[in-house]
Amino acid sequence: MTVTRLLLLGPPGSGKGTQAEILARRLGIPQIATGDMLRAAVDAGSAVGRQAQGFMDRGELVPDDVVIGVAEARLMEPDAVKGFILDGFPRTPAQAEALDAMLERLRVSLECCLALHVDEEELVARLLRRAQIEGRSDDNEQTIRTRMQVYREKTQPLVDYYDRRGVLREVEGDGDIGEVASRIEEALRR
Ligand code: AP5
Ligand code: MG
Repeated sequence: MTVTRLLLLGPPGSGKGTQAEILARRLGIPQIATGDMLRAAVDAGSAVGRQAQGFMDRGELVPDDVVIGVAEARLMEPDAVKGFILDGFPRTPAQAEALDAMLERLRVSLECCLALHVDEEELVARLLRRAQIEGRSDDNEQTIRTRMQVYREKTQPLVDYYDRRGVLREVEGDGDIGEVASRIEEALRR
């Protein structure tokens, strides 16, 4: 059976975006990345963008109601009917519960939560490397530290949340991109 409704959970820099993109291409289903959508909203100067920008620049989470609205609108688009890869959503227990409610309304269920594990030193090194290449406004040392702390406090509890649901599959996220992609493929076959 092919898994088509999944989410990637992991700290900043763990490779959610990188691996979600690979999986989306392989499975032919959309990647739904709230961070990318919020950055696009900031660039467009929309109401959502104006609400989100300060939080993003500080490395804090954008308020649940804003992000839930963004994710829900995207999940309701027709291409998500055949499946989706959630990248960076949910990030709080309230978001996870909102996702459950959305999926219930759509009469589908989440099949798999892939949790990526990478040492914090490696995470910081990856993000500082990206800072030099892409210049994402939240890739600076202080904001990276805040993002790590926010992950530990607000998002890490979701690992247990999805474990209790029986959909958690843990994957080592170190090593090169191809190696991690192979481990994910293996985890999806388990
Ligand atoms: P978001 O855009 O989701 O950022 P993030 O979680 O901080 O994570 P990154 O995108 O930096 O890392 P990633 O895990 O995707 O790794 P990537 O593949 O890019 O969120 C940004 C902000 O938006 C949040 O701080 C918050 O304010 C807001 N937000 C978003 N969603 C929200 C939500 N649900 N609720 C509230 N607020 C929300 O890889 C990182 C780098 O490492 C890249 O340069 C990549 O090329 C490289 N790399 C990847 N894999 C490897 C590897 N195996 N080896 C070496 N390098 C690698
Ligand atoms: Mg990302």
